[in-house]
Amino acid sequence: MIEVKGLSKYFNNKLVVDQVSFHVEAGETLVLLGTSGSGKTTTLKMINRLIEPSSGQVLFNGKNIQEQKPEFLRRQIGYVIQNVGLFPHYTVWENIGLVPQLLKWSQKRIEERTCELLSMIGLPEEMATRYPHELSGGQQQRVGLARALAANPPVILLDEPFGALDPLTKRQIQTEFDQWDTLKDKTMVMVTHDVFEAITLADKIGLMNEGQIVQIGTPKELLFLPCNDFVRHFFDTQRFRLELQVIVLKEVVDQILTYPHDTRHQENDAIIIASENCSLLEVLEEMDKNNVDFVKAEVQKNKFRLDALLSREMLLKTFYQIKASSESG
Ligand SMILES: Nc1ncnc2c1ncn2[C@@H]1O[C@H](COP(=O)(O)OP(=O)(O)OP(=O)(O)O)[C@@H](O)[C@H]1O
Ligand SMILES: [Mg+2]
Repeated sequence: MIEVKGLSKYFNNKLVVDQVSFHVEAGETLVLLGTSGSGKTTTLKMINRLIEPSSGQVLFNGKNIQEQKPEFLRRQIGYVIQNVGLFPHYTVWENIGLVPQLLKWSQKRIEERTCELLSMIGLPEEMATRYPHELSGGQQQRVGLARALAANPPVILLDEPFGALDPLTKRQIQTEFDQWDTLKDKTMVMVTHDVFEAITLADKIGLMNEGQIVQIGTPKELLFLPCNDFVRHFFDTQRFRLELQVIVLKEVVDQILTYPHDTRHQENDAIIIASENCSLLEVLEEMDKNNVDFVKAEVQKNKFRLDALLSREMLLKTFYQIKASSESG
C-alpha cells in the first residue's frame, strides 16, 4: 500500500534522512523507532508531502505521490502531529471537523461524525466548544487522534501520538487505541521513541539511527535476532519486560502441549483466567496483582476450546525455551 524507495533528505547540506526504504501492507502498522534527531518525523512528513524529499520516491497504491493531488492525499492519509498541534484558535469541534470541512462534507454529516468521534475518545459533548488550552494534555492528545480519523482515511501517520503523557494516562490511551474499531483495518505508520509502545503496537518496527534504518522487522526479530549491537543495546534497559510482552499465552500452550501437564495445582488453589492473546507480561502482572500462582489459559485449538492450567514456574520455563529457539532463528 505504501512503498518508500531510497528516500533521502538534506537540510542545509546536512543529510538527515539517508536512503530509507520500506513498505507497509494494507492493514499493517509500521513503527519508526529511534533516538531523538534520527530523522523519524522528517521521514513521516515525506509520506504525505509535508516535506519534499531530496531524492527517492514514495508510492501510494503503486502510484508516485508526486503525481497525486494534495486534496486526494489529504483524504487518504490522516496525520497526527508531534506535540498534538491542535489549532489554538479553533474549538475542539472545529479542530476535529477540519478535514471534513476541507472536503466539503455537509454540516449534518460533519456533526454526526464529530459526535461519533467525541464519544469514541471519551470526551463529553460539552467539551466540544472548548479551545485546546482549556483541555488537559491527555484530552488534547485524544482530540489530535480524532482529528486525524475524522474523514476515515485508510492510512494514518502518527508522530508520537502518546508522547508527553504520564505513564498511567499513556497506558490507558494506548489500550483504548488498540481497541478502537475504526483503527482495525487501517494502515498506519507511527513514530515513537518509546520501545514498549513500539513492541506492543507494531507489526513491523524500523529502527532508525542517524537518518538510516538500521533494522526493519517484527518486534520479535528485533528483540531476538538483532542485526548489530546498536539494535541489541537499544532494547537493553527494558529487555526482560519487552520479551515477555512479545510472547503470547497461546505460544506457551503450543510449546508445552508436548510436555506433561503441571500437576501440582490443588483444587482450592486460586487461579486467574486469561485468553490466548494475552502477552506473558500481562498474565504475570495480573498474577502478581492477585497474588496467585496459576493461570487458566483459554486457547482455541483447531475447532476445540482447550483450557490449560499453568503455573508461574511453567510459564517462565517455557518463556526461556521460546526465547532460546527464537534466538537461534
Ligand atoms: N526544517 C528543518 N530545517 C533544518 N533542519 C531540520 C529541519 N527539520 C529537522 N531538521 C533536523 O533534521 C534532523 C532530524 O529531525 P527529525 O525531526 O526528523 O528527528 P526525529 O527523529 O523526529 O527526532 P525527535 O525524536 O526528537 O522528534 C535533526 O537533526 C533536526 O535538527
Ligand atoms: Mg520527531
